[in-house]
Amino acid sequence: MNAATPTVPNLAERRIVLGVTGGIAAYKAADLTRRLLEAGAEVQVVMTAGAQEFVTPLTFQALSGRPVRTSLLDPAAEAAMGHIELARWPDLILIAPASADVIARLAHGLADDLLSTLCLATDKPIAIAPAMNRLMWANPATQANVATLVARGVQVIGPGAGAQACGEIGDGRMTEPLQIREAVAQRFGHGPLSGVKAVVTAGPTREPIDPVRFITNRSSGKMGYALAAALRALGAEVTLLSGPTSLATPAGVTRIDIETAQELLDAALQTARGAQIFVGAAAVADYRVDGVADEKIKKNDATLQLTLHRNPDVISAVREQDARLFVAGFAAETEKLEEHARGKLTRKKLDLIAANWVGRGRAFDRDDNALSVYWPGGGRELPHASKTEIARQLAALIAERFHARAAAPA
Ligand code: CTP
Repeated sequence: MNAATPTVPNLAERRIVLGVTGGIAAYKAADLTRRLLEAGAEVQVVMTAGAQEFVTPLTFQALSGRPVRTSLLDPAAEAAMGHIELARWPDLILIAPASADVIARLAHGLADDLLSTLCLATDKPIAIAPAMNRLMWANPATQANVATLVARGVQVIGPGAGAQACGEIGDGRMTEPLQIREAVAQRFGHGPLSGVKAVVTAGPTREPIDPVRFITNRSSGKMGYALAAALRALGAEVTLLSGPTSLATPAGVTRIDIETAQELLDAALQTARGAQIFVGAAAVADYRVDGVADEKIKKNDATLQLTLHRNPDVISAVREQDARLFVAGFAAETEKLEEHARGKLTRKKLDLIAANWVGRGRAFDRDDNALSVYWPGGGRELPHASKTEIARQLAALIAERFHARAAAPA
């Protein structure tokens, strides 16, 4: 057997409505159809008008062995299976590629074509694999729409980074069909966190001073990203709220970019609704600059004074919002590790805290780490290892404590 041959997951008897929307990545949906069928799924393709400009329905009909649905008002198709019936048929509605337009229409609850109507009329899970130009993806309108969908429980797969059809390079490439299939299989799978929604914050925040300067910290985001990937691997649906980093989004993880602590707070409160696990791995700036200058500050004086104001504590606000949420935090300390970490565990009403030494070349922006993990009434040492390995062990511990708490009498 060729070593590179991926294992084919078992999707036998899984029914999937595959929504294909307009974009150059529509051609990859043909391969995705094939891959889903190969895993045993039944696939009903629904194409938007835009998608048909890129690939013909005949292609999908030939691959899926079923007539493709394209219209809400097609009497013959409706007679065979009405759109309400079709909305109830699948185990999953998967939209790949999902254009910026369909994401906006879903976020606003429009029902002006078959695919959007199905999404509105279904009580089945929905997953989307966005594909668009990097600027369209980064646009706050798209990010807000994605956050809305995530808060409603839609799984967002990718997008990935890389070269785009438009010649640009950045985030917005549709996740590869095999990875999409893997994400679909995982959500039907039996990992210890399958069916559990988790939100992870990662990276530094940036607090602006003027249009060109900001205050930040040395966090690289590596630990938070590794943890997001590790939770995903245990079957969780993971949303990563990320400060500025140069890291690639882990496969199958939905990433929402933030800059300031206030933006992180807004995104955290929104995405934590409907989640069961929240992990605060971000190095949130404790203070922001009072009165950010509209113009670049000139060096007119010998001294410059900035007044800083306390930022809200994100993890505490998330805990306040939902007492049932499993909340895990990090404690970055330069002295009295256990004492300070346990202090934060109690003060912030956390379920678990992972403490590490920082400063003098330790932890920040390194590829390895060691953690002391504490929870009410217990603790465990995770000895020095790569951040990926530490993240794997921490994710397993989070899953263990999450289930222990769920099993404990209230
Ligand atoms: N945290 C947060 N919001 C803040 C500050 C911290 O959500 N404004 C979270 C971090 O993500 C981390 C935990 O709180 O999970 C502890 O962060 P840390 O910087 O160690 O502690 P602080 O609360 O900032 O306390 P101090 O700086 O006094 O040590």
